[in-house]
Amino acid sequence: MLQILLFVFYIWGIYLRFAEAEIKLVDAEKCLVWGAGIKPDVSVLPARYFFIMAIDKNGQRYLESAPLNFQVKIKGNSPHGRCRSHVDVIDRGDGTNIVRYTTADWCDQVEIEIRYNGTQVAQSPYYVRNKVYSEKCYCPQDLQLFMLHNNCPNAAADKQIMWDLHSFKRVNFSAIRENLMKRYNQPESVSLCHYVVKQQQIWRQCYGKYTGFKMFMDSTLLALSRVALLPDMEFYLNLGDWPLSKKGGQQRTSGPYPIFSWCGSEDSYDITLPTYDLTESSVENMGRVALDMLSVQRNEHPWELKEDKAFWRGRDSRRERLDLIDLSRKYPELINASITNFFFFRDEEQKYGPTVPYVSFMEFFKYKYQLNIDGTVASYRFPYLLAGDSLVFKQDSPYYEHFYSKLQPYKHYVPFKRNLSDLIEKVQWAREHEKKVREIIHNAREFVEANLLPQHIYCYHLALFKEWSNRLVAPVVVMPGMEKVQTSYTCFCKEPQIKDEL
Ligand SMILES: *[C@@H]1O[C@H](CO)[C@@H](O)[C@H](O)[C@H]1NC(C)=O
Ligand SMILES: *[C@@H]1O[C@H](CO)[C@@H](O)[C@H](O)[C@H]1NC(C)=O
Ligand SMILES: *[C@@H]1O[C@H](CO)[C@@H](O)[C@H](O)[C@H]1NC(C)=O
Ligand SMILES: *[C@@H]1O[C@H](CO)[C@@H](O)[C@H](O)[C@H]1NC(C)=O
Repeated sequence: MLQILLFVFYIWGIYLRFAEAEIKLVDAEKCLVWGAGIKPDVSVLPARYFFIMAIDKNGQRYLESAPLNFQVKIKGNSPHGRCRSHVDVIDRGDGTNIVRYTTADWCDQVEIEIRYNGTQVAQSPYYVRNKVYSEKCYCPQDLQLFMLHNNCPNAAADKQIMWDLHSFKRVNFSAIRENLMKRYNQPESVSLCHYVVKQQQIWRQCYGKYTGFKMFMDSTLLALSRVALLPDMEFYLNLGDWPLSKKGGQQRTSGPYPIFSWCGSEDSYDITLPTYDLTESSVENMGRVALDMLSVQRNEHPWELKEDKAFWRGRDSRRERLDLIDLSRKYPELINASITNFFFFRDEEQKYGPTVPYVSFMEFFKYKYQLNIDGTVASYRFPYLLAGDSLVFKQDSPYYEHFYSKLQPYKHYVPFKRNLSDLIEKVQWAREHEKKVREIIHNAREFVEANLLPQHIYCYHLALFKEWSNRLVAPVVVMPGMEKVQTSYTCFCKEPQIKDEL
C-alpha cells in the first residue's frame, strides 16, 4: 500500500516538474511593452527607449532573465533607402529589458518589430504614424508640447526646483548684475559663465581661469534647442565644484545672488542642475559615452554570484575616503576599498597606498554593497550606483544633486554617518537582512526608472528653464562681449528661423 502511495507521489512529482517547465515558457502576446520609445515621432531623444516585461504562459512575470533574448528591428524608409538604425537590448536580469535605438537623419513609415522565439510580442509590430527625425536634426517643438509628449512634470510639481527658486521670486538682472560680477569675478578661485538664450540662439561669456567645463552646458543647451523651443532667458552657471551663493555673511544685506550649479549644499542658495556628467550621458546616449543610466542596468553579475562585501574605488579627494581604507584593512571580510589615484593627500600615499589598477564601473556590481562617499563635493556616481543591482550605502552629507530630496533613507539606500562610525554595523546589518536589502535595491531601481533616465534629465532642464524665464523681469539682451555658441545639427525639419537682428 505504502509503495503504491509512494509511486503515485513519484508520478505526481514528475507531472509537477513538467507542469512547471510548461509554465516557464514565455507567452509573447502577454508580455508587456511600454515607454516613450514606441512613439519616436513625438518623443524625441538621442536614444529612444522602451521596456519589455517577460510574462509566462500562466500570466506571471519573470524574476530572472527570460530563457531567450527578445529580438527588435526598426524598419522604415529613409532618403538613402532602408532606414539605418542601431538597436541595443539591455537585459536587466529581473525579467525586464530596456530596448534603446537610434535612427539616422529621418525615417518614414517606421515599424518597430519585437519578437520572442519568432513570435510577435504584445502588440508588435508598432506602426509609427509620422516621420521619425533623429535628435541630431534641428526640429524644435513647442516647449509645452515637448513637455507633454515626454510626460515632463511642471516646475511646480518638483520639490527641488520649487525649493531652489524659493528665494528668487522676481529676478531683475539689470539691478543685480554689476554687484553679482563684483562678488564672483575672481579669476583665481571662481569659474563662471553667463549664458543668454534668445530666439533659440545661445550666447555666453565666461570668467575665470578654468572654463573648459562650459562645453557641457554648451552641448546641453544645443541639444535642448534641437528638440524644443527654449524660452528667452539668462543665467550664471558655476563651473566649479563648490556651490557659490553662500548663506549668511554679506548675503544677509545684499540678498542671495542666483547662481546655477551642478552641486547644491545646505549652506548655499545655488540652484541645482543635473550634473554635467549625468546630463552628458543623457545627451550622448548611445553616442560617445560608455556608461549611462540605461547601460549601467545591464545585468552582468547575478545576485547569487555577488560577493557579500562592500566595494569602493576612487581618488583621495576627502579625508573620509582615507578613513575607509583603514576600515577595509581592519575588516577585509566586509569591505574591499582602495584608492586609485593620489592628489589631495600625496604625502600620505605611503600609508594609504599603493594605488590599484582601474576597475571598470560594471565590475563594481560583482559586490552586493556599494559605498557612496563624497569627493570634493557630492559624488556624481550616486545615480549610477542606484541603477545597478547592488545596495547603496550613502554617507551623510550637506551636498546634494538635483534629485536627492526625492530619495528616502532605508527605502532607496542605507545612510551612514559622515565620519563612518556606524558603517561596519550597517554592512553587518545588511548581511543579515537579505530580504530587506533586495527590497531597497528594487525601490532604488524603480526610483531610477521614474526620475533619472535621459527623458527625465531633459524634462528637469526644461521645467527649470521655463519657470526661471518667468521670474526674470528685466529684458533679456545679448551683452557686448558675448560669444555665440555655434548650433550643430545634421538635418532639419523646417529651415531654422535664424534672425540676425537682436
Ligand atoms: C520556441 O518555439 C518552438 C516552436 O514553436 C517551441 O517548440 C519552443 O519550445 C520555443 N522555445 C522557447 C524557449 O520558448
Ligand atoms: C530693474 O532694475 C533696473 C535698474 O535698477 C530698473 O531701472 C528697472 O526698472 C527694474 N525693472 C523692473 C521690472 O523692476
Ligand atoms: C578586492 O577587489 C578586487 C577587484 O574586484 C580584487 O581583485 C581583489 O582580489 C579584492 N581583494 C580582496 C582582499 O578580496
Ligand atoms: C561620529 O559622528 C557622530 C555624530 O554624527 C558622533 O556622535 C561620534 O562621536 C563621531 N565619532 C567619532 C569616532 O568621531
